[in-house]
Amino acid sequence: MKLINCFIAFLFMTYSSSAQFTPNYDDTKVPKFQVPDPLIRFNGKKLSNARKWVKKRRPELLDFFQNEVYGSVPGKLDEVSFKVVEQANNALNGQAKRKQVEVVLTKNEHSLRFTILIYLPKDKLNTSLFLGYNFYGNHTITNDPEVIVTEAWSRNNDDFGITDHTPTEKSRNVLAQRWAIEKILNAGYGLATIYYGEIDPDKNDFSDGLHALFYSDDQHKPKTDEWGSIAAWAFGLSRAMDYLETDIHVDASKVVVFGHSRLGKAALWTGATDERFAGVISNNSGCGGAALSKRKFGETVGRINQSFPHWFCDNFEQYNENEEALLVDQHQLLALIAPRPLYVASAKKDQWADPKGEFLSAYYATPVYALFGKEGITSKEILEVNRPIQNTVAYHIRTGKHDVTDYDWEQYIKWASKFVK
Ligand code: GCU
Repeated sequence: MKLINCFIAFLFMTYSSSAQFTPNYDDTKVPKFQVPDPLIRFNGKKLSNARKWVKKRRPELLDFFQNEVYGSVPGKLDEVSFKVVEQANNALNGQAKRKQVEVVLTKNEHSLRFTILIYLPKDKLNTSLFLGYNFYGNHTITNDPEVIVTEAWSRNNDDFGITDHTPTEKSRNVLAQRWAIEKILNAGYGLATIYYGEIDPDKNDFSDGLHALFYSDDQHKPKTDEWGSIAAWAFGLSRAMDYLETDIHVDASKVVVFGHSRLGKAALWTGATDERFAGVISNNSGCGGAALSKRKFGETVGRINQSFPHWFCDNFEQYNENEEALLVDQHQLLALIAPRPLYVASAKKDQWADPKGEFLSAYYATPVYALFGKEGITSKEILEVNRPIQNTVAYHIRTGKHDVTDYDWEQYIKWASKFVK
């Protein structure tokens, strides 16, 4: 009987909480809200120059995002090691060098491994590159038969032949259309990618992945102000950067971190926390990424915390249906990347991610770039589709749905060739 009651209660909770939420897609119904001024400190003092931003404002904003939104990293690793497990000079029909590098992170006598797949233009040293996570394994981004199939947990996906949470040969190449490898290499850039599930499996379970390495004896989940999965993924990208700094074929001072959707949120947080990254690309990152939370348009803080309770730190739940209480908004996350180049991209049919909120966020981050004499988005008028603005802060909204397309990559490459050369 007890069990049946529990089950009914569970059904009720699941039903009622999802039934309550109807996303707002009407711009006239966006609530009036105050955009927190990035140039006014929490103590009310106004900043007038870049030095004050760096010394006073940036650290307090970073702290806020760390303690209240993404969560902080609880300590340091004991060891990070790298091993090139495979390489070739004639990959992709002779167009590229390929390396597969195993990174081992060790702490408290436990370790976690992940593999970076790197393609570099063949006859170049010191290559600038794009680094970004993929959703289903390195082997899904190319038909290259030498790319190692991940053994990490994955979400099942019938279209990609992934059952039992285990990727296989069947999913090789299934997401190649999201990675314009040839265009990237032809432009003289390299590409490095990692399967994000190797850092932290994307499920509400803190017993596995990177978090578990950092627990004290009786701990089972991070503390309320400690990292969720997004911060763990960001930490993984920083460890990939540790490797890139050792690779003589790569110019580590010219690495642009890229991410789509939840991985765009992770790319932004990486750029904010690790200033070694020369530039950041947020592709359709939406709520908890580039989009302003206080607009409550499409996905909201309450909704994202309900659907993905493991992405942020527990403190972030205070802002469920309570975005007004946030002392910050996501334009200040973007501002943490200043003065480094930043590209925010949206898609017209991706209203869930609030394209206008992503655009306005880039606009409201611009005064911080201006302190450094860098140009951003200076008009509040939302852009027309497929008409990018490419300054140090760049933005486009393209036609089509939530995705990464060749069009997106063509813009990123063009912009990077100007700002991250
Ligand atoms: C969901 C989620 C978004 C996220 C997206 C993705 O739609 O609500 O916040 O960006 O998944 O990662 O694909």
